[in-house]
Amino acid sequence: MKYRSSQEIRTMFLDYFKSKNHMVEPGAPLVPIDDETLLWINSGVAALKKYFDGSVKPANPRITNVQKSIRTNDIENVGYTARHHTFFEMLGNFSIGDYFKKEAIEFAYEFLFSSEWMGLDTQNMYVSVHTDDEEAYRIWTEDIGVSPSRILKTDDNFWQIGNGPCGPNSEIFYDRGPSFDPENIGERLFFDELENDRYVEIWNIVFSQFDGVEGGDIKTFKELPQKNIDTGMGFERLVSLIQDGETNFDTDLFMPIIKKIEGLTDQSYLDNKTAYRVIADHIRTLVFALNDGAMFSNEGRGYVLRRILRRAVRFGRVLNIEGAFLYNLVDDVIAIMVDFYDNLNDRPEDIKKLILREEERFAKTLVDGEKLLLDEITKTQGGQISGDVAFKLYDTYGFPIELTIEIAQEKEMDVDLEGFEL
Ligand code: SER
Repeated sequence: MKYRSSQEIRTMFLDYFKSKNHMVEPGAPLVPIDDETLLWINSGVAALKKYFDGSVKPANPRITNVQKSIRTNDIENVGYTARHHTFFEMLGNFSIGDYFKKEAIEFAYEFLFSSEWMGLDTQNMYVSVHTDDEEAYRIWTEDIGVSPSRILKTDDNFWQIGNGPCGPNSEIFYDRGPSFDPENIGERLFFDELENDRYVEIWNIVFSQFDGVEGGDIKTFKELPQKNIDTGMGFERLVSLIQDGETNFDTDLFMPIIKKIEGLTDQSYLDNKTAYRVIADHIRTLVFALNDGAMFSNEGRGYVLRRILRRAVRFGRVLNIEGAFLYNLVDDVIAIMVDFYDNLNDRPEDIKKLILREEERFAKTLVDGEKLLLDEITKTQGGQISGDVAFKLYDTYGFPIELTIEIAQEKEMDVDLEGFEL
C-alpha cells in the first residue's frame, strides 16, 4: 500500500468513478437548501434526495460526490475515540435506477483493494450483510471470493430514515491489527459488534430497493420499481489507513492544526491527545459551517455551533491556553482544505472575526463558571449537580447544559436534568 495525501485520495475516488461513467455532482453547502427536515447536510445522500424521491431526474443516473457533513449526535465521543467527528467528508457513488448490487459491490472492492487504486490488503477485509440479503451474500462469497468466515450477517444492516426509499446495506470493514485491540479479543469484536478501534467500517453500500414506512415491518415493504444505490465511504478513516495514522487525527487532515496548537501551549499532544483532538475537530466544523452561512445564536443550528465552540474553548483551558486562540487556527484549516474547497478563500477574515468575538464572549464567564462548578463538585462529592446550579451555569455563565454534563462526568458525577428543566 502506497502513501497518498488526502487530496490525492479524494481526486482518485472521483477519477475512479468517472472511469465508470459517473458524473461528479458538486458537494452541497452544509446548510441545507429547501429541506426543513435537516439541521445540517449529514451524508452524501442527504444532498441528493431529489434524485432518490424522483422529484428531479439526474442528467446521468450514475453520480459520484464528495460531501462535507456535520453530525453532532456523537459529540461527546469526539476526542476520545479514533474515528468520531463533528465535521467529516463522505465520499459516495450513487445509482438512480441504473446498476445495482453486483456493480456497487465490485466498484467498492476494486477501488479499495486493487493495487491500481488504494491497494489495501484483502487479508484484512471483513464484510457485513443483512441477514436476509442472500443476493449480497452470494456476490461477496462467489463473485468476489470473500470467505464466509469473514462475513457477519446481522438484522442491523437495514438503512431507513422515515418514509420512502430504504433497504438492506452491506459494510466493508478493515482489521487494523492486534495493536488496536489491547485486550486481545480478536474477531469477536467484529462478530459481536462490540465498540472497538480494531475493525474499522470504511464503506457502507445501501441497496435502496424498498418503499419504507416509518416504524413498519420491513418484511411488508413493497419493492420499488426503480432500484437505487447509495454508498458512503468514510474519508477520514480511509486516509488514516492509507497514511497509517494511529487515529483519523494522525493524518495530513489534522496534524498541521495539532502542530499549530502545540505552539500555543506547554502541554504536549502526546500527553493530552483528547484535548488536542477535540480542538482540531471542532475548529474544522466552525470554519466550514460559518463559511457556508451558519451563524452563532441561541437556537437551532446557531446553538449547535455555539456549543461546539464552547466545548473547544473549554478544552483549550485544559491545555492552559489563556485567552482567545481558536481564531488563530482558521488559516490552518483553510490551508489544508482549500485545494479542494476553493470557496474557503472567500472571507477568511470574517470567519476569524466571528470566532474571535464568540470566544471573547464566552471567555468572560468561563473561568467564573468553571470555578462555581468545580466548587460544587467538591462539595457534593460523588453525588449529583443540582438543577439550580446547572441552570445558573447556563443562564449566567453561558454553559451549554451538555458542557456541564461532560465536566460532571469527567468527575464521575451526573446532573439533575429534571431540576434543570423546571
Ligand atoms: N446513507 C448511507 C450513510 O450515510 C450511505 O451513504 O452511511
